[in-house]
Amino acid sequence: MKVPLCKPSIDKNEINLVTKTLKSNWLTHGPYNTKFEELFNTKFKTKYAIAMNSCTSALECAIKSLGIKGEIIIPSFTWVSTANAVINCGSKPVFADINFNTRNIDLKSVSKCVTKKTIALIVVHFAGLPCDMTKISKFCKKNNIKIIEDSAETLGAKINNKFTGTFGIGCFSFFPTKNITTTEGGMLTTNNKNTYNFVKKLIAHGIDKNIKSNFWHREAVLAGHNFRMPNHLAAMGYTQLRKISKLNKARNDIANLYNSELSKISKKIKIPFIPKGFTHSFQMYTITVESKIRNKLLNFLKKNNIEASAHFDPPLHLQKYLKKFNKKKLSVTEKLSREILTLPIFPDMSRKEVFYVIKNINNFYKINNK
Ligand SMILES: Cc1ncc(COP(=O)(O)O)c(C=O)c1O
Repeated sequence: MKVPLCKPSIDKNEINLVTKTLKSNWLTHGPYNTKFEELFNTKFKTKYAIAMNSCTSALECAIKSLGIKGEIIIPSFTWVSTANAVINCGSKPVFADINFNTRNIDLKSVSKCVTKKTIALIVVHFAGLPCDMTKISKFCKKNNIKIIEDSAETLGAKINNKFTGTFGIGCFSFFPTKNITTTEGGMLTTNNKNTYNFVKKLIAHGIDKNIKSNFWHREAVLAGHNFRMPNHLAAMGYTQLRKISKLNKARNDIANLYNSELSKISKKIKIPFIPKGFTHSFQMYTITVESKIRNKLLNFLKKNNIEASAHFDPPLHLQKYLKKFNKKKLSVTEKLSREILTLPIFPDMSRKEVFYVIKNINNFYKINNK
């Protein structure tokens, strides 16, 4: 048996609608962008949603919409896009440490990173678990720090009944490994009309559609990008989003099965922690094991055709080109990056596949003691 790390759930509904959209000859952004954005707003209770070509683009738009440059606090325990977006927008990333159990940014560490130059905090909702946005929002308001939510890995998860992407400017990814996919794609969410108007122009060459002296007039008012999502990919996203509850439930069911079975194998395997009042969308299922066996276990699973991985190892502040932005030790991040292990999870994963992974972990522990 071969078990992939992740696999998108694409059925005939996506295929039929994408085909129909392709046949309609409307290939660039079009009616399905609006439908997808409206459904996103309805599902996640946001005011404005803008579909675009990636979460990385959404992060850049969010940062540019702040209108100033300075220091932006981010976790080091994230995909490199979070830091790249900051640097590519002319600001400086300042790395904060995380909480070991939630794997999310630690407010105490954030507070130590604040200087006069701090303009924003990008929180990363890791693997499907929201950050503690109640405390973070309070802190940022008090310190006049803008919040951007890198919610690439978390779609449809809540903190006290409030979805991620509604606390600051939300940035979501529809890369094939994520909770829903448009192949490549992303979404920016905001409750601020000015941010919405600015980003709408920024993703489409800086053209202001309200300025029109005649029908051929296109007036650029800023140096925009082409970050738009094409119509047929928006149609795919719309179809995927309609079944998000079902997809996330399937992920949660698999996570629960892993939780109960892995706990029986060894006390040293730590299953994911979900704080009270939070929900998890399990874009990834991560456990921690002792650092001295982590790599061995990864190789063992690979040999048995199981695609496991380690998100994120190495963390950003230890990567060569990012080292210059950080002088301090981030001890929790470093420890977690040595112990974390990502197991396969995807909505269509069969019980047989889950038990194959569990059986192999069990075999590994039998050979390598408990
Ligand atoms: C935390 C985080 N931020 C940003 C991204 C980038 O998303 P995209 O590939 O849509 O640009 C990812 C994707 O892997 C991610 O995990």
